[in-house]
Amino acid sequence: MVGPLMENIEKVLISEQEIQQRVAELGRQISADYEGLNPLLVCVLKGGYVFLADLTRALTICHSVDFMAVSSYGNATESSGVVRILKDLDTDISGKHVLLVEDIIDTGHTLAYLLENLRVRQPASLRVCTLLNKPSRREVDIPIDYVGFDIPNEFVIGYGLDYAENYRNLRFVGVLKPGAYRASK
Ligand code: IMP
Ligand code: MG
Repeated sequence: MVGPLMENIEKVLISEQEIQQRVAELGRQISADYEGLNPLLVCVLKGGYVFLADLTRALTICHSVDFMAVSSYGNATESSGVVRILKDLDTDISGKHVLLVEDIIDTGHTLAYLLENLRVRQPASLRVCTLLNKPSRREVDIPIDYVGFDIPNEFVIGYGLDYAENYRNLRFVGVLKPGAYRASK
């Protein structure tokens, strides 16, 4: 993809200000819920990195962070449900209070796999925080403890989310022009 970033944006779905306000609220809620527990925030790369960076700085309690990278097999806009671990955690999570930080829950396949994978390592607790949730797309029933925004069934980019590895740096969550998909192939 070449050219100015904004050229391919159809519309802003969630503004920078709305995101910052909601992240601050989530930070307050998580700080209250995990007081004294020194949780481990596990960021799912790559999409979760922008959200994690803001969320962790909105917390007022001691906590640590670790990273996992996964890739779902499938094309650029459809998850296949088959997940591969590209990078595992550096730390042993047994006995720890783990909060999984995700960019978006779509079909739920990625999260279902991750939860199963982490649960066998016997954390003291395991919860999920996602910036975005697409309830209408859900194929697997999974509990989500903290949700930034429920969004309609549209492919979104920005604030960590990519299309073909582009647009992660946008400060808002937006939708691409239909032509942008074709242009990048
Ligand atoms: P799921 O397994 O269908 O829940 O898909 C989860 C992953 O697919 C996310 O972590 C994203 O990487 C990607 N994904 C799903 N929907 C979108 C979207 O609207 N924009 C960008 N990436 C998405
Ligand atoms: Mg992606």
